[in-house]
This record gives sequence, structure tokens and C-alpha cells, in this order.
Amino acid sequence: MNILLRGGTVVSGVNAKKLDVLISGSKILKVGKFLNTKDAKVVDVSGKLIFPGFIDSHTHFDLEVSDTVTADDFSSGTKAAVCGGTTTVIDFATQNRGETLSQALNNWHIKAFSHSSCDYAFHMAISDFNENSKEELKAMFEQGVSSFKAYMTYDAMKLNDEELFSLLSSLKALGGIVGVHCENDGIIKSLTKDKKENGTLSVLTHPKVRPDLCEAEAVCRLLSIAKAVDVPVVIVHLSSKEGLDVVRKFRESGSKVYVETCPQYLLLDESRYELKGLEGAKYVCSPPLRKKDDCKALWKALKSGEVNTVATDHCSFTLDQKSVGLDDFSKMPNGLPSVETRPVLMYTYGVCKKRISLEQMCRLLCENPAKLYGMYPKKGVIRVGSDADIVVFDPKADSFITKNTHHSRADYTPYEGVRTKGKVESVYLRGKEVVKNGELVLENKGKYVSRNKNTLI
Ligand code: URP
Ligand code: ZN
Ligand code: ZN
Repeated sequence: MNILLRGGTVVSGVNAKKLDVLISGSKILKVGKFLNTKDAKVVDVSGKLIFPGFIDSHTHFDLEVSDTVTADDFSSGTKAAVCGGTTTVIDFATQNRGETLSQALNNWHIKAFSHSSCDYAFHMAISDFNENSKEELKAMFEQGVSSFKAYMTYDAMKLNDEELFSLLSSLKALGGIVGVHCENDGIIKSLTKDKKENGTLSVLTHPKVRPDLCEAEAVCRLLSIAKAVDVPVVIVHLSSKEGLDVVRKFRESGSKVYVETCPQYLLLDESRYELKGLEGAKYVCSPPLRKKDDCKALWKALKSGEVNTVATDHCSFTLDQKSVGLDDFSKMPNGLPSVETRPVLMYTYGVCKKRISLEQMCRLLCENPAKLYGMYPKKGVIRVGSDADIVVFDPKADSFITKNTHHSRADYTPYEGVRTKGKVESVYLRGKEVVKNGELVLENKGKYVSRNKNTLI
């Protein structure tokens, strides 16, 4: 039976209008005023905001890293995602050195298949860029992988400048896009060595060995390489004003650069590392949390449109896993959980605080990631013919974030006790109501999304 969502305010990247939405099967059949109710189950959504399902284009589920594996796999991670209104995640299929890209992609299909509660796609993180991986790029596109990831730090994964140049050149012909983790590895290693020799190994040292200039230098080097090749690139999880200034400089001289940031770089700052023991460990991620001024600069860049997407970089660990690095920060697995909380945080601290508009929130969390990663207009918009991925959001509800009710396997949230405005009331995934009255009612309905090329201008 068709479903008619009646009387809500439908949000897009350009406006927010009172419109009805008619869902037929997995697709949106009609969007308009006073739609006919014949043969449809009518759901009164008056007073609610109707968003396209949110897209989180940066998650790490079931990732082996720092001699451990992330607390969330696709089962728990996608449950958390969909309960927070995210209907599609793009996770990083990660090539271990010695593996082919096809093996890595196959590994991630096995991890995700049949136990994902939201739709999923994969970027391919390339750790071993050799002649064989180069040959395999075309096959990646044929299997719906149109975006790639490179790291400029982390011994097990980093590519050097020559490899980056070669990867970007190979993808230029194919039209793919690369997202890059930008931090200067040499500075991090040298500062870490110094600190270890001086015996300053607590969590407080973590941000000190990864200062903002590490990010700015790596952004500058990446953008120089991309300029030499003449291709657009994505800076993932941009955290600093210094890094942003470099992006501005390159854009002024004609470079095409896309920028992603994350809620932690907008809402949390480095004072968290002063918290003792495991309290401070909760916030160890790379790049690290920055100063309040960096948060402010990033909010302004969201408002001005200089940042294109807000994703989470959800990479979750339990406190027990984090505790491995309590006496030596460099051994601590890096990353934070936030796949469930990003939409409500962006609504509360972005829209309600008037730092961004409702339409901008929709662009940052829905439209832009859908376009940038080749899923638009199937995903990212409420439009005739699009997948019926819909979030019914109650803008009036008051709530707060707590680990006691979240769905991540991490036994903490970096936002414990944070008050929120608005609540995800229900979620439709390709026409099926998977979240009802805030509760997950249908599990494991997620499907693989095969993607095309970037269409974000
Ligand atoms: O600390 C983080 N962000 N861990 C996840 C891996 C990455 O760098 O994106
Ligand atoms: Zn990264
Ligand atoms: Zn990441």
C-alpha cells in the first residue's frame, strides 16, 4: 500500500515547504500540495520537518586498526546510524598492504552484507598503490566504487607524494575522486619521539604532536600535487583554521577543492584532553580536537559554503580499548563514535543557533554528499523517482544525548548529557518504516548502493 506523509515541511537544499509526500514501494511517487489519499495509508506529519535520509560519507565499521578492531561493525554501526536518521553510510573498504583492491572490496561486502540496517556504499582506501592496484581502478568503478581514500600519515596506510601523484593521475582519466587524510607524518613522528624521550606520554600530549600546522602543511602539499595533476580532491575531516586558509588560497588560484568537516571539530575543543585518565582518552582522534577559534572558523566556513559536507569519521572504541594507550598516548586507538548524533547535533547547534540554515543543513548532510559521491538524485533529495529515504523530524522535542540509549557498542559518547533540540521520530528506508516513534522496528534492510561519478559543482 502507498504511504502518504501529509502536512509536513519538506526540506531541500534550496527551500523548506509545506508539501505532502506520496511513497509507492521503494520510491517517491509524488510531492505536492493536497495529494490524493486514494489507496494510501495517510500519516499525519503536520508540525514535523521532512528531511531526505541523511548521508554519512565517512564511517569506519569493522576496521582493524592499532592492533584492535573498531567496536562497531556494520550491524551495530548501521543501527546507530539509522536511529539517528542516517539512511546511507559510505564506509572505507580498506586495502591492507599485500592485498588487491578486489580482495579489499570483497572483504567489505562480506562485512556489510545482510546485517546492515541502512544502505551502504564503499570508498576504497588504498594503502598499497602499485601497478596492480592501478590496473584495478577501472574494475572498482564497474562495481560502483567511484571514490577513493589516501592517507598521508599512519605507517600501515600512508602513500608518499609520488604515489599520490600517480593515484591522482590514474583517476583523472577515469573521473574518480580521492578524499585525503592530511597530516604531515614526519612532524608527528619527530614530535612523538621527542615527547617519549621526555616522558610526557599522557593524553594531553596527543594534540601537541599533531599541531594544526601538520594539517596545513599536508593540505598544501596535497593541493599542490592535485594542481600539478589538474584534478579536484576532497580534504576529509578538516579540523583547523590553518588548513582552511590553505584551501582558500588554492581555491583563489583556481583549484577545485571539496572540504568535509565533522561535528567534533565544530563542537568540541582541545581542553577535553586536560580531563584525567579515560575521560580525556574519549576524545583521542586524528586530527585532534583544536582550539575554540578553529571551531568558530569552521562554523563560519559552513555558513559561507566553503565546507561542502559534514560527516562523522565514526571510528568507535570502548573505554577498555582506549585504556591501552593511557600510559602512552601513541598506542591509543584513534577515533570517536558519533554516527547516531550528527543530525540532531547539527540541527541543535547549527540550525537552532542560527549558524546555518535548515537548507544548508540539508545540503551538508544530504544533497552535497549525494552529489559528490555519485548518488544524486537517487539519494539526498525528496523528489519524484528518488529512493523513499525519509526522516520525519520533530523540531520541538527536547532531549539529551546519553550512552544509555545509544546503539553504538562504544560504552561512551563524547556528547554525554548534551542537550538537544529536535528528535528523529521515524525513518523510512526505501519506503519501509524502519524507525517508528524513535525505535528501530525493522533491522538489516540495508542494501549496497552502487555509485556513479561526482556531480557536485
Ligand atoms: O582518529 C580517527 N579519525 N580515526 C579514524 C581513521 C581516520 O583517520 O579517518
Ligand atoms: Zn582520517
Ligand atoms: Zn576516517
